[in-house]
Amino acid sequence: MTISLSEFQQRRARLLANCAPNSICIIAASSLVTRSNDTEYPFRQDSDFWYLTGFNEPNAFLVLSNKSMPNAEQATSASQHYSAVFVQASDENAEIWHGRRLGVAKAASKLGTDAAFDADEIDDLLVDLIDGHEHIYYSLDAEPRVDATITMALSECRNAPKQSKIAPSSVHDIQPVLHEMRLIKSEAEIEIMQRAADISAMAHVRAMLFSQAGKFEYQLEAELHHEFTMQGARYPAYGTIVGSGENACILHYTENADELRSGDLVLIDAGCELAGYAADITRTFPVDGHFSPVQKQLYQLVLDAQIAALACLKPGGTISSAMLACVRVVVEGLVELGILSGSIEANIEKETWRKYFMHGLGHWLGLDVHDVGIYKIDGKDRPLEIGMVMTVEPGLYIPASANVDDKYKGIGIRIEDDIVITAGGNHVMTSKVPKEIKQIEALMAK
Ligand code: GLY
Ligand code: MN
Ligand code: MN
Repeated sequence: MTISLSEFQQRRARLLANCAPNSICIIAASSLVTRSNDTEYPFRQDSDFWYLTGFNEPNAFLVLSNKSMPNAEQATSASQHYSAVFVQASDENAEIWHGRRLGVAKAASKLGTDAAFDADEIDDLLVDLIDGHEHIYYSLDAEPRVDATITMALSECRNAPKQSKIAPSSVHDIQPVLHEMRLIKSEAEIEIMQRAADISAMAHVRAMLFSQAGKFEYQLEAELHHEFTMQGARYPAYGTIVGSGENACILHYTENADELRSGDLVLIDAGCELAGYAADITRTFPVDGHFSPVQKQLYQLVLDAQIAALACLKPGGTISSAMLACVRVVVEGLVELGILSGSIEANIEKETWRKYFMHGLGHWLGLDVHDVGIYKIDGKDRPLEIGMVMTVEPGLYIPASANVDDKYKGIGIRIEDDIVITAGGNHVMTSKVPKEIKQIEALMAK
């Protein structure tokens, strides 16, 4: 399950069409990051670079131009666009130690660009590539190494002897253009994301089946990661959260160190990364398979709130209107349970509920778990569009320190699904892991 070469080429053409005429774009790959001494974290490609190339090596650059290049006969005549990659050169010794490289000779045909060069030559070649363009686009958040490469090329182009070169006079951040594209997922992307969601759902089911008092949070984490890897998704998309008892009230709890206790709930927030794309699922379930009456009350409230939100998430709808519907259900429930007092409207207006539900409704999902794309246009929530993928994840967290009836203390619940906006509303991609109380109890009774 991959993205086709022609889709990568279409993305590059679309990016250039969205830039001003006579523009050059430079997109850099990630570098390896030291973990300790001479070992590195597993390599993770820069999401923008990955989106445009599907190429998973460090120290690479993609250069795109929408001006027909005077010195580049290679430019594809059909489009008048020019594309080049800079990649690590083949190196027998380095490849024996660190792994295979695509190499310069194969790069252009494999990645579908007009030209390929050795990444070690970028400092020299970039000056000529930039020459004659009016606009340059790159990530203004680029890491210092990349930023230095581009600013040096720009400076050399500006200071070329007797102004023999023409340096771009306007510098643009490439991120808004590229991230607007990434926000709307293609059919191929949705297919991969559906598989990532299915694998993650299987992992949650596996953890539910494994759960019992006396096991440790890290053992549930191991069950999840085992399932990810066995299904071909080698890495989690973010730090897995397994929080039992009051640990569920720590939103980004990743210690995953405690023993599961009978009678507690356990909150798992985990999703795999598949071909670069993230899934992001949270389920909360009883350690030993049975919700207590109080747990049922709070759990059903979060579930009802999530279902109310889901009903609003459709083309033309907004995240804030869904949040409002969700908050209304939460407030009505909390007032009924005596956790909040006063009128529904006053609680909504004063945002008293934020004490127990302190995060947003959800976020865009894609190559990044908190994916790119702006949420507001001119200060107003942007209307949802077909092909947007997002999470819907209300929660209630009542720490031991809360000023409420003791029976509610130490309970944290979140239910998180991933949805894609469709013509008919939305499709819940993560429905293969149960979330109804009866379904969870039935599964865990197995
Ligand atoms: N797993 C991070 C989040 O739910 O936003
Ligand atoms: Mn999330
Ligand atoms: Mn999550």
